[in-house]
Amino acid sequence: MSIRPHIIGSHIYRVCSIPSTNTALLENTDHYEHGAVLVADRQTAGLGRRQRNWSSEKGGLYMSILLKHVDISRILLPFCLLSALAVVRTVEKHIPSELSIKWPNDVYAEDNKICGILPQSTACGDETHGVIGIGLNVNNPVKGLKELRQPAVSIKDISGAAADIKHILHTLITCLDRYYDGLREHGLANYLPELNNVLYRKGRTAILRTGEHEQKIIPLAFTEDAGLSCLRDNKKTRLYWGEI
Ligand code: BTN
Repeated sequence: MSIRPHIIGSHIYRVCSIPSTNTALLENTDHYEHGAVLVADRQTAGLGRRQRNWSSEKGGLYMSILLKHVDISRILLPFCLLSALAVVRTVEKHIPSELSIKWPNDVYAEDNKICGILPQSTACGDETHGVIGIGLNVNNPVKGLKELRQPAVSIKDISGAAADIKHILHTLITCLDRYYDGLREHGLANYLPELNNVLYRKGRTAILRTGEHEQKIIPLAFTEDAGLSCLRDNKKTRLYWGEI
């Protein structure tokens, strides 16, 4: 039996405080290895999707993964979805709540956001490097946070006890590495049944937001190219842009 080398998490860097783990990796791609993971105890300028900020108090898990020379549509975006699945598989070991993936890649515990994921990329000549940033509410306070768009929750809020962040990180990286390998070998299609089991509001009405625009849709399934198949105006369509 051959033992394949780890790619995701082959190098793990930990810092106490940093503006943003995503920015640190993207601005220093020469200094970090492909698959390197950067973890921070707290971030002072954490980034969220759509230019929002991501509150990053001590107690949460803030990490980014560097993917060098990456194909955005074939690897980065599908792996982003699989990162959400890896979070589901990791967090379900700690809390009994129903976990789901709200397209494109938020993780929800019932109707509360527990994790946000942010892919970013940078082009250097004809090379593209990408990062996937994961912010998971573990023991950090989220209930009192102002200006939250969605209700948020942490693992500790649900379980009532502080969780071991190092243990969660280890479980998550192991799962991410396995999924990365599976994605390259077999593509995203291999994971669609598992992903579609945890699609948020599957078969039920949801609000699709694209910029300032809001519209009712019914999510049906994730697609093999990391889009969302849904019913919009009673017509089946695929979405690649927006969020529900
Ligand atoms: C979202 O808006 O839901 C995405 C949030 C992503 C937050 C994570 S925390 C680690 C990484 N570094 C950042 O600055 N953002 C991501």
